[in-house]
Amino acid sequence: PRGASLTDFAEKIGVDAASLVQMLFSLGEMVTATESVNDETLELLGEELNYVVQVVSPEDEDRELLESFDIEFGDDEDTDEADLVARPPVVTVMGHVDHGKTKLLDALRSANVVAGEAGGITQHIGAYQVHTEVDGDDRRITFIDTPGHEAFTAMRARGSQSSDIAVLVVAADDGVMPQTVEALNHAKAAGVPIVVAVNKIDKPEADPTKVRGQLTEYGLVPEEYGGDTMFVDVSAKSELNLDKLLEAIVLTADASLDLRADAGREAQGLVIEAHLDRGRGPVATVLVQRGTLHVGDSIVAGPAHGRVRAMLDEYGNELSEAGPSRPAMVLGLSAVPGAGQNFIVVEDDRMARQIAEKREARERAAMQAKRRVRRTLEDFMAS
Ligand code: GTP
Ligand code: MG
Repeated sequence: PRGASLTDFAEKIGVDAASLVQMLFSLGEMVTATESVNDETLELLGEELNYVVQVVSPEDEDRELLESFDIEFGDDEDTDEADLVARPPVVTVMGHVDHGKTKLLDALRSANVVAGEAGGITQHIGAYQVHTEVDGDDRRITFIDTPGHEAFTAMRARGSQSSDIAVLVVAADDGVMPQTVEALNHAKAAGVPIVVAVNKIDKPEADPTKVRGQLTEYGLVPEEYGGDTMFVDVSAKSELNLDKLLEAIVLTADASLDLRADAGREAQGLVIEAHLDRGRGPVATVLVQRGTLHVGDSIVAGPAHGRVRAMLDEYGNELSEAGPSRPAMVLGLSAVPGAGQNFIVVEDDRMARQIAEKREARERAAMQAKRRVRRTLEDFMAS
């Protein structure tokens, strides 16, 4: 990638940046780990490491692969206006460790169950859809819990494509912390509007005013101070002001976003998280971004393929279909895809298998190349 540093490069291939610096030094090139390196330097390094420096990004490569099957990942430019339907906003919940992101989502979800959403045992699927009433309209919001997951990294990279709004959770007793800043920078870089949830206001030592002051310094100026960022004081524990938070999200969506998707086409979207279940086999939580996913569809998710055997929502209820912005647990895949990888519905099982096989072969080749590079570097450092 353009502007990449040795640190970026080292991270990509899973080696230590310092050894790359040293190797370049021995080749007569003085480069620090953090400065961006030009293509020639990268190529020089690649030659030395027996590594093909990829001028093409993996995303471009995948796009080409799909194009060879006449599939385009992403919004179709030619979509007829008439086919577009309103879709719920996709909201990522971000913030510093332990500031209450997961608890807040649980509170929002359980408030929903009480509201009669139905259901069996709640499932942890990493993504949830809740209903709220705003001005008499029933509105839905899709939440994605980010922390801890790899999905976060991948999603950050995909930026605004995967998330429409970011809810920045800041604990009022702790204030702005390093990951608060990191999270808000990612949202800003992706151009995603931010709603601030000042959490834990039930605590006696909570100081929500201080949080406002701190965030103002990072350019998030509260509306009540004349800025344009909505701040909502909440308590996930005491379930305080949850409705206000939902309303702020809906208002943000209505004010600045045109959220529509073609529900009629084959489904496409992202893998939020996935695991191997003893009884059910590979289970993947996916977010449908466009189109409608049906039970029985032939699907490719990363290097996994299969036919959708069953779909479950966040309450464990079976779904027969899932439209735009809906998170769903999908059963029936051949393997466990990676968080952040895309999924697509294709014509038939044969095509699904062909695409999956090509992706798998590519992943395997990349892994082998990385291993080779590591060995070469180890030999170099030992010599
Ligand atoms: P990571 O996923 O590790 O980044 O943390 P998180 O942001 O998801 O935090 P989590 O929801 O796990 O909550 C962390 C701790 O704070 C737990 O012990 C929660 O019970 C507590 N907590 C969360 N929200 C509140 C709140 O509103 N009030 C109080 N008093 N405690 C809360
Ligand atoms: Mg959490």
